[in-house]
Amino acid sequence: MIDINKLGSIKYQKKKNLVKIKISDIKDGLNIRENYFIYKKKDNYQIYDRVCDHRGGKLINKDNEIKCPIHNWVFNPITGKYSNGVKKTSISYIKKEDHLEFFNFNFEPCIKKRNIFKEDEIKLRFFNHAFLKFSTKNISFCTDPWAIGPAFYNGWWLKKETDADWIKELNKSDFIFISHNHPDHLHQLTLSKLNKNKTILIPKFTSNSTYLFLKEEGFKNIIKLEFEKQYSFKSSNLVIVLFKSGDFREDSGIYFSLNNFSALLDIDAGSINFNKFPKVDLYGSSFAGGASGFPTMFENYSENQKKKIIELDRKFIISKKIRNLKLNSAKYFLPYAGFFQEKLKRDNYVFKMNKKNKISDYEKFYSNKNIQILNVEKNNFFVFKSNNLVSEKKLKKKSFKDATKLQYLNDFKKQNSKIDFRLIENYFLKSGFNDNLILIISLTDDLFKNNSLQFYVVFGNKINVKKINKISEVIKNKQKKILHLKIRKEAFINCIRNGKSWEDLLIGFQVKVSRDPNIFNSEFWHYFSNNYVSKKRVKSLSKCNGCEVITQKLYSEII
Ligand code: FES
Repeated sequence: MIDINKLGSIKYQKKKNLVKIKISDIKDGLNIRENYFIYKKKDNYQIYDRVCDHRGGKLINKDNEIKCPIHNWVFNPITGKYSNGVKKTSISYIKKEDHLEFFNFNFEPCIKKRNIFKEDEIKLRFFNHAFLKFSTKNISFCTDPWAIGPAFYNGWWLKKETDADWIKELNKSDFIFISHNHPDHLHQLTLSKLNKNKTILIPKFTSNSTYLFLKEEGFKNIIKLEFEKQYSFKSSNLVIVLFKSGDFREDSGIYFSLNNFSALLDIDAGSINFNKFPKVDLYGSSFAGGASGFPTMFENYSENQKKKIIELDRKFIISKKIRNLKLNSAKYFLPYAGFFQEKLKRDNYVFKMNKKNKISDYEKFYSNKNIQILNVEKNNFFVFKSNNLVSEKKLKKKSFKDATKLQYLNDFKKQNSKIDFRLIENYFLKSGFNDNLILIISLTDDLFKNNSLQFYVVFGNKINVKKINKISEVIKNKQKKILHLKIRKEAFINCIRNGKSWEDLLIGFQVKVSRDPNIFNSEFWHYFSNNYVSKKRVKSLSKCNGCEVITQKLYSEII
């Protein structure tokens, strides 16, 4: 096992700006400032920043509603909550004679660097998706290996084949870092090929989810690292720090320094370290978008509406990366962790609708600027000396010979074809989920057309499950919301048999959703994605230390 030393918690350099707002300038009701909302009722003031708590869009006032134009979260300044129940933290202020005063804080992490050993070259090799390898002459490590096979119920496939030496390179590395437990990062099949003595570093998540998964896979040397703590490694200048995802999911990013070189890989994490960025030379991040069934699989939206939402989301992702690059001052940007495709013929519609950003979308933006994009689709091997990229090239390697997509799909279908209604019934009866919701499920073929089984589940104090022939048999009740899910039969069976997260069904495009009313059923998705799942598959916390229930539940829908 690798020799790791703790170097203590990181410190933050705190910068604060005093904001003063004249009371005479604040009218009753809603007041909008460039970066804040102030809601005044008599002598009471509620102040909120305009950063959307979903994924950092800017809240605006439109049609007398405060909403985020990115994915339409609506905020009510009177209750302090979004319409889906997520609470927004108000800003504390002091009232002084004729004005209100509060601070706007900025925090910059200060992280130790080591320069003890002679390790002047840092090599970066891109394998696939989020799978990278960094090495010096003293140490090497890989990140999030997904090298073969599909992810998310055969919905995601690697865009290109992986070099044939991937197993050897993983086994040779000193450790593997796994950022979170989405299957394109914690990839069961890829990991099954590795030496189980390999050291795996993971974040110390509250639910222990990633650890439990790896343990069950037979890995013997799993090391949980605490967030915002510095770790060094024997005989190397490497220092690493893990940061939390800022959106309450169990996700993370890794910062590391080697001599004077430093890098931050925030991968899929939203608002990493709550936007408290360290200054780095290299910033690596997902860039493509499209990692969700929303809106593509949602039948309440027209084709044009879907296209608009996807376009907006793509632009939003680019704008966030640009903003992050400003905050972390990196001079090299590595767009990665977005190299998946919906490759099966049955998913042609998804492939066409679910457009993603390309690296060239970023290159265009940075063509005249001081930031260099590392385009891993052109070159996959980069060498840094001190803080500078000194060379890059495409390694000429044979590709790994993987099984065909149809082989994977047919095997999956064979293993998950048998419908057992009693098992389904028990699954829901034991769920303990209570909501004013009627869930209708149609178990379908590949094209979501022919049904093998239809049933509904009425949730409430008592749960009722009943088979139906037609949807019209479901007695509508104005008190209850209706959620109709058409789910590919085999994916559904696999999900409930293994206590998997329903979030993955949606991310993998295995569900078509229609709902009445057309609102996000956050309680339902959260419960069946995180609470009523096997412990090793939890992806986000339900509670934030006893404060408000985090109803920001299903990343995939709301992204
Ligand atoms: S970023 Fe605001 S709703 Fe998604």
